[in-house]
Amino acid sequence: MDVSQLKQQAAERAVGFIQSGMIVGLGVGSTALLAVRCIAQLLQAGQLKEILGVPCSVQTAEEAERLGIPLTTLEEHPGVDLTIDGADEIDPEFNLIKGGGGALLREKIVAQASKREIIIIDESKLSPVLGTVWAVPVEVIPFGWGSQTRFLESLGAKVTVRKDKNGALYKTDQGNFILDCGFGPIPKPAELAMKLSNRAGIVEHGLFLDIATDIIVAGKDGIRHLRREMR
Ligand code: A5P
Repeated sequence: MDVSQLKQQAAERAVGFIQSGMIVGLGVGSTALLAVRCIAQLLQAGQLKEILGVPCSVQTAEEAERLGIPLTTLEEHPGVDLTIDGADEIDPEFNLIKGGGGALLREKIVAQASKREIIIIDESKLSPVLGTVWAVPVEVIPFGWGSQTRFLESLGAKVTVRKDKNGALYKTDQGNFILDCGFGPIPKPAELAMKLSNRAGIVEHGLFLDIATDIIVAGKDGIRHLRREMR
């Protein structure tokens, strides 16, 4: 079974937790997109009714609209019942690195507004220690962003400024920049998260700690559902 089939399996399992009438957070990335498509199919088939989606990016919003999923906002519905999203790296404590798709800020806002945050991955995303395979995306406002590079380097990061496919500075949905920070293995992610959060000009970072409630891992031996206590 190839990776796309594994992702599809994880997406279908997660969508099985959605009930009619729920407010559902719609994540970003290739795996989350499979879940969005699956939700649309169930709505069309009448197996789900009266779902309202809260998209975590402009791209997800456009795709959901195209597929006919009714959307809402956190202003209209401040509480989300369940969000399904992907991740870039996951450690055994349910800590995540997210933001490979550049949507970390909206993803974290929606996740923190959600009763349940279901993360869907193929098993290649599992990692013993965060940072082992993935850099931490850090979203910074354009004003003074060069000083953030220096700050992040002082924390031990090898910093790469994210560019778009045309070679221009990548801009998030909020018009900010992303600095991808290779820290190597991060033994104490909470300490690093605190330092990043305390820095003016850093809007958000891709360390998602104490946020995921469920991880659905699709691997060659089948699906595993790992669950934490509900918040
Ligand atoms: C988007 O900003 C990210 O957090 C994604 O959730 C992450 O990059 C996973 O993407 P894939 O499912 O495409 O691997």
